[in-house]
Amino acid sequence: MRPTQFLKKKVKMNKKFYVTTPIYYPNDKLHIGHAYTTTLADYINRFKKLDGYETYFVTGSDEHGQKIEDRANEAGKEPLEFVTEIIEGFKNLWVELGIEYDHFIRTTDETHKEFCKNKFTELLNNDFIYKGEYSGLYCKPDESFFTETQLVDGKCPECGREVTEIKEESYFLKISEFQNFIEEKLKKGNILFPESRVNELINNFVNDLQDLSITRTSFDWGIQINEDQKHILYVWLDALLNYVSTFEYGLKDGWTADSVWGKDSEVEILQLVGKEITRFHSIYWPIMLEMIGYREPKVLAHGWIVSDQGDKMSKSKGNVVDPIELIKKYGKDSLRFYLINNIETGKDGKFSEELLIENINGIIVNKFSNLVSRTSAMNKKYFDGIVPKASNQTEVENKLWKTINKLVDEYKEQVNKYEFSDSLKTAIRIVEELNGYIDITEPWKITVEEGLDTVINTLIKGIYVSTAVLSPALVESSKKISDWLQKDLKLDFENLDFDGIEIGEIEHLFERIK
Ligand code: MSP
Repeated sequence: MRPTQFLKKKVKMNKKFYVTTPIYYPNDKLHIGHAYTTTLADYINRFKKLDGYETYFVTGSDEHGQKIEDRANEAGKEPLEFVTEIIEGFKNLWVELGIEYDHFIRTTDETHKEFCKNKFTELLNNDFIYKGEYSGLYCKPDESFFTETQLVDGKCPECGREVTEIKEESYFLKISEFQNFIEEKLKKGNILFPESRVNELINNFVNDLQDLSITRTSFDWGIQINEDQKHILYVWLDALLNYVSTFEYGLKDGWTADSVWGKDSEVEILQLVGKEITRFHSIYWPIMLEMIGYREPKVLAHGWIVSDQGDKMSKSKGNVVDPIELIKKYGKDSLRFYLINNIETGKDGKFSEELLIENINGIIVNKFSNLVSRTSAMNKKYFDGIVPKASNQTEVENKLWKTINKLVDEYKEQVNKYEFSDSLKTAIRIVEELNGYIDITEPWKITVEEGLDTVINTLIKGIYVSTAVLSPALVESSKKISDWLQKDLKLDFENLDFDGIEIGEIEHLFERIK
């Protein structure tokens, strides 16, 4: 027997990526602000899959708390019945928007509730929790407590509404003991993106870090703790733990809480949040994780979709836009494209239907769809729908591929740095290069001897590349193109070969909006 036969076969481990959205409150239907977060999560998740990662994507609903209880009462329903109807709407929106999540977690699931109770017990036994009395200023709509100094003009610093003083017995998490820990983590960097948010967070919250009230006694709709019948978990501990409890459901082989959150894990974790809940995810959450022996995630704090006046789009301001209506009118790809492209990741951005239409007509139709339909038509006309071999690649093609390769690298780097809007703009630059190539080569004027076959062959390969990089945004049309080209999309462009494949003509992709 040769010695090599004793060697263990090297198992190639897949790179792993875990991505989450906040779990949304089911007190109303979702608007495009919520659709924005989930679209960004789906964008990077699809990118990672394309790039060879094994991924796990969780979204869900944050169902407990006084606000939900009140809304259910107003509607004359039991809380669970009330939220279940709303959640059907959430799930439908994610289908309509082409969101490919692995788990929709509900905080009312038995598995999650059990997990939270056990974690509470563990934290209590390990002396991270004590019983005390809470007296503080509470904003019900935001489910948040504030100190006097955090108020703005005596009102909630986040939504500007009235706060009420609340005094009650409560269990506390010893957050303040971790002030140095969290400050060092944040200052070291590479855990909160964009990094410009770090100082803001340290100045506004870390410098005056208080223990966190984690139970309430004044309402019932929540997870009752094992140790004390009258206490239910205050929503944030319950909510944040979903990011770990999701692995208790055993949905995907090889994905366990320890293997993802364990300190020596190599799984890349990205949690998307709107900027208003960054402090929960970048201060309290890493501390809770440290208490239970886990490591901290990377958090991407995105900006808000705002009205023309710069106000956050929200139900209470009466300025919300329904994503379902937009999808019905313009299709999922267009809305996804707009949200990723037009709102610079990390900054606030406006939504307007005019801008959406500008994106559709000016970029998706004029640049991308046009490139595909022109190429398809030429391949049909000159080669009967069969992709020709490239008989003579010239300096023009060499230069084009050099540029495209550079742009692909730039695109990948941008997605990996969570600069999604920039990455999509880079993807479109590849499309522009290909359109420029058509302008230079003028295929309708040349014969095969003059290189027509090379031009069409190059365009088909170029379309494959641009479709692959656009596919995390344009999920529906990229599928049609990959079906047409009879090749699954991947971010691997070595040895692309479509020679001799009969592809016929592609079906119509996008409608210009009048
Ligand atoms: N339930 C909490 C999150 C708990 S996570 C452990 C919550 N839910 S929410 O329903 O209010 O949704 C908040 C999320 O929706 C924000 O983080 C943000 O991602 C998104 N947005 C809501 N309005 C938004 C805009 N106008 N613009 C962009 N995103 C916004 O907070």
